[in-house]
Amino acid sequence: MTKYVINGGRPLHGEVTISGAKNAAVAIIPAALLVNGVCRIENIPNISDVSLLLNILDRMGVKIRTVNSHTVDIDSSNIHSVTAPAELMRKIRASYYLIGALLGRFGRACVGMPGGCDLGVRPIDQHIKGFVAMGADVDIRNGVIDAEARGGRLQGANVYLDVVSVGATINIMIAASMAEGLTVIDNAAKEPHVVDLANFLNSMGADIKGAGTDIIKIRGVSEMKGGFYSIIPDQIEAGTYIAAVAAAGGDVTIKNVIPKHLDPITSKFREMGVDIQEGDDYIRVRCDGRLNSVKVKTMPYPGFPTDMQPQIATALCTASGTSLITESVWDDRFRYVNELKRMGASIQVDGKVAVIETVDYLTGAQVRACDLRAGAALVIAGVAAHGRTEVENIYHIERGYEHLVEKFQAIGADIRRVYTPDGNMTSQAI
Ligand code: EPU
Repeated sequence: MTKYVINGGRPLHGEVTISGAKNAAVAIIPAALLVNGVCRIENIPNISDVSLLLNILDRMGVKIRTVNSHTVDIDSSNIHSVTAPAELMRKIRASYYLIGALLGRFGRACVGMPGGCDLGVRPIDQHIKGFVAMGADVDIRNGVIDAEARGGRLQGANVYLDVVSVGATINIMIAASMAEGLTVIDNAAKEPHVVDLANFLNSMGADIKGAGTDIIKIRGVSEMKGGFYSIIPDQIEAGTYIAAVAAAGGDVTIKNVIPKHLDPITSKFREMGVDIQEGDDYIRVRCDGRLNSVKVKTMPYPGFPTDMQPQIATALCTASGTSLITESVWDDRFRYVNELKRMGASIQVDGKVAVIETVDYLTGAQVRACDLRAGAALVIAGVAAHGRTEVENIYHIERGYEHLVEKFQAIGADIRRVYTPDGNMTSQAI
């Protein structure tokens, strides 16, 4: 078993550099299947979700060449399969973007149902609604999605999303890039990674306008050629370090960010009393440990991101007064609360609302990550808490955070990744 062992309770100081955005990378890599040529993609985060996707593409006959630790060449010229390995598909949510990419380029996709964090029900009806509107027949049975464009090529269509869905917006945008005619996505998601994907596709020859607004227009092209693209910085990773400074106190400069993308996050932490100064591509975060309670409601961008909900909740555990968090995106994203309670937090959850009463400090404990952001929140709790914390099930965290241990160490946290063959904590650190 591999765990993080944290001796908490000291403020954070120094600099941390943010990696490429996970949720942009996991869309751009499958989208490279559309391209008849080599896509050089830079600023790719070193995380297990990315390795898994590259592995899936490799198994499908795509040539993957690692140029350096954050750059890969993806060459889909000679792809030989419209079928993706089902056992790998199940391990990751973003594998469903292969449906859009394969349908768009070849008019056929046969892929396993996606996996990903367990946040309650995660339907894909809006993705399918888009593909069907574009003339695909979609059949789901035995855990496999089989989609085929009638006449061999998707046709442009108007798609009104019933819910604002990042995944459906991205998947339909990918599929429509090579459809015949114009596709209009109404009520589209506006997240920075939606815009990043559109920029990537456009740089490879697609014709997409309006990404970042709620109406996206995609005029299909018959071929896309290779090129270079650099992925945007990860705003949730940056937000996670902001939350850590808020919880533990300190003075940390967070480099390689697009401050505008962080507005929904920084505005809430400022309300809590955290001092945040912005530069062109960095922010400086200072906190003396005193925080105000706030109300937070998660919303699609530019609202407060659900992917920051567990981290801000952790910082709010020691804020003066009572805070209220409403989770309005996912049905079941408070499962980490029981772990925080083991560390002394006072939180009551009723459906989609969590009420956080202040405590003086958190105390170290043995806790277990139940998903990616929940895991990040427990690391923050451990860094801020008095005493020793052990975080288990860290594979969830390593799906989406590059070099988390090294980055926290660089800003003064006492955290180690420890491997224990027999589950006790006496073995070597790695
Ligand atoms: N929804 C539907 N039907 C659909 C799709 C979504 O009803 O066909 C609902 C969902 O049930 C949810 C809401 O729409 O209530 C939003 O879901 P969305 O499709 O936006 O989520 P997603 O694409 O599955 C991505 C991120 C998540 C992030 C959400 C919301 C990726 C790979 N995942 O998921 O990220 O929470 O958007 O911003 O991009 C994470 O990084 O930790 C993570 C879970």
